[in-house]
This record gives sequence, C-alpha cells and structure tokens, in this order.
Amino acid sequence: MKLETTKTVAEIAVEIPRAIPYFEQKGIDYCCGGRQSLQEAFTKAGVAVEEALGVLEGIARTTDGEVPAQWPSLASLIQYLVDKHHAFTREQLILTGKLGSKVFLVHGKGHPELSGVNRVFNEMAEELKHHLLKEERVAFPFLKALEENEKGASMPFTLKAFQMGPQQILRGDHEATGEQLAALRHLTRGFTPPPDACVTFQAFYRALADLEADLHRHIHLENNLLFPMAEQLVARV
Ligand SMILES: [Fe+2]
Ligand SMILES: [Fe+2]
Repeated sequence: MKLETTKTVAEIAVEIPRAIPYFEQKGIDYCCGGRQSLQEAFTKAGVAVEEALGVLEGIARTTDGEVPAQWPSLASLIQYLVDKHHAFTREQLILTGKLGSKVFLVHGKGHPELSGVNRVFNEMAEELKHHLLKEERVAFPFLKALEENEKGASMPFTLKAFQMGPQQILRGDHEATGEQLAALRHLTRGFTPPPDACVTFQAFYRALADLEADLHRHIHLENNLLFPMAEQLVARV
C-alpha cells in the first residue's frame, strides 16, 4: 500500500485502524481534528513525513485488525459502537468518578489541581450520559429504521437537513467532549500522577487516560465512518 501525504489523518484512521496507536503516540488528533493532511499533521508534530509514511505502510501490511475498516451495514457498526464503546464509557465514568471523589477528599488540599480535574470530569460525564442516550434513543434507531426500510421509505430529512440537524448536534457534542478531554490532559500534565501519588491517585489518572483513549476511538468511528455512511444512506432514500 502506497500512501499519499495529501490523505487526511481521519481517512487513514478509517482505512488502517491499527494506525491509531501510532497517531496517539505522536500526539496527532485523528478524531475531531482529523481533517488535516498527513503532511500537515506530521510536520506540526515534528515527525519526518517520509519516516512516518514508512511506519504507516508497515502497519498497513500487518494483518490482525481489531476494528474492521469495512462494515456490511450501518446496523452492524451501530451495534459495535453500543456494545463496545457505549458500554465501556458508562462503566468507566462510574469507576473514574468514584476514584476522583476519593482522591479529592484525601489529597485535594495538597493538590489543588484536583478540584479543576474533578470539575471538568463531572461536566464531561454529565454531558456524555445525555449524549449516549441521544444516540441510542433517537439517532441510532432512526438510522437503523432507514436502512431496514431503504426501499419504499419516505425520507423525513433532506440530506442538507440531516447534516444541519441531527448530525450537527452530535458532532457538536463530540467537539465539546474533545475539548474537555484536552483540558483534562492539560490539567493532569498528560495524566501523569505526582511523585507522591498513592495507588488510588495513580488509578484515577490511569482511568482518565483509558477513558480518553476509548473516547477518541469512539468519536472517530462516529465522525469519520458512521456519519459519512449515514449521509450516503440519506442521500439514497
Ligand atoms: Fe457514541
Ligand atoms: Fe457520539
């Protein structure tokens, strides 16, 4: 596979999902900010573009793919998102929230940054709970019904209305989550616990880092794969 430097980071993350850890390692946003070209992204990250292409081509040649690049249907992708990412997000929000409160109670005085970390986390958690429900109760059932009844269905939205309505709302939520994650990363200095951190403190930062990694993958699949597939479906009906 020969890669073009004009391809966007998001396109590569869709075509070669196993490139995602490499993007993460280099601090490249493949998710909400994924519309930049490989050339731009690697230059900004201070990585030699030729070298990066070599690494990505190497990754593309290896076989075991955790996330399929092609989905037979919207319904199958939606099922994957709900079973894997929505389930993980809900569990992780509960765990992380408990750890955060405990660490704040015990170490809040000595580590004033914890108050900001907990505030941003709690805001994000609250918004995410609503976001998951919006997807599961409104957007996903609508898309599945549309796919099931593709032939003969009357489309309640024009493509433009779909883009400006449901899709824009969900993309806006994703953007907000992306900003909250970036704020958490900043406040925790890259989720690095201080030298005197106890085990719970370390577990809290670890839980935040795991949540960030999963949310980036989750949002990437929705922004860069689900929505484009949905647009094609809406345009056909
Ligand atoms: Fe989702
Ligand atoms: Fe989402």
